[in-house]
Amino acid sequence: MNKKGSIVIKIGGSLLFTKDKKINSKRISDFCEIIKNKPKFDALIIICGGGLIAREYINSIRSLKGNEALCDIIGIEVSRLNSTLIITSFGELAYPQVPKSIEELSIATLFKKIIIMGGLQPGQSTTSVALEVAEYTGAKELILLTNVDGIYDKDPKKHKDAKLFPNISYEELQEITLKSTDEKQAAAGEYRIFDAVSLQILKRSHINVLVMSGSDIGNFKEYWNGNPKFIGTTVSYKGKSN
Ligand code: UTP
Repeated sequence: MNKKGSIVIKIGGSLLFTKDKKINSKRISDFCEIIKNKPKFDALIIICGGGLIAREYINSIRSLKGNEALCDIIGIEVSRLNSTLIITSFGELAYPQVPKSIEELSIATLFKKIIIMGGLQPGQSTTSVALEVAEYTGAKELILLTNVDGIYDKDPKKHKDAKLFPNISYEELQEITLKSTDEKQAAAGEYRIFDAVSLQILKRSHINVLVMSGSDIGNFKEYWNGNPKFIGTTVSYKGKSN
């Protein structure tokens, strides 16, 4: 793939931690090495999720009777803290601060470094941030690295017969997201791969979105190094795809 232009990558918070809730420094460093070894982009912005630690805080705040807005704010704080791990791993290649707004991002872009940031405001997920940033920077591509292989017709962690979509139309994505919606969908820490805000941004901007596994970092590496065939899902905008 030709990586010229701006690229946005979201690294799901779940990828930053091991099952026993330790920071997965190896995966962070492996991810950064893949990018460092083939830095073919004009601008790269990485959005970092909150992961297990955000959920720990959110659950505790809830049990202490804190409200959902406070939970979101803490989720944002944790995603910013997680961002510092990636900044550290990139060393001098990274912009040293975590932009806290689109305005701060616009200043950071002037320095031509890799920018790493977390959440922006309550009521959304870091996927929405990734879409907002992709829209703002006119990114040619948004890569969502998650802990499953892509978008499935149902939750692959719960259903063995879940089917992975290699391509999915915007309409199908919207249908699946709304179908999987339960009363927790809009609660802090519970936004799915796509949440309501991210669907709205996609609808108006038609950003080129690729969803793939970050647990299987080799798959991402292949793609990043130029193999256009990856295991994952591409979102398309021209009617039904399957
Ligand atoms: P995410 O849920 O997006 O992080 O953000 P994640 O761990 O990467 O999620 P997965 O791995 O994709 O499932 C953590 C929490 O921070 C708050 C939300 O409560 C969110 O669930 N948040 C994040 C915001 O309120 N606003 C933002 O802009 C970003």
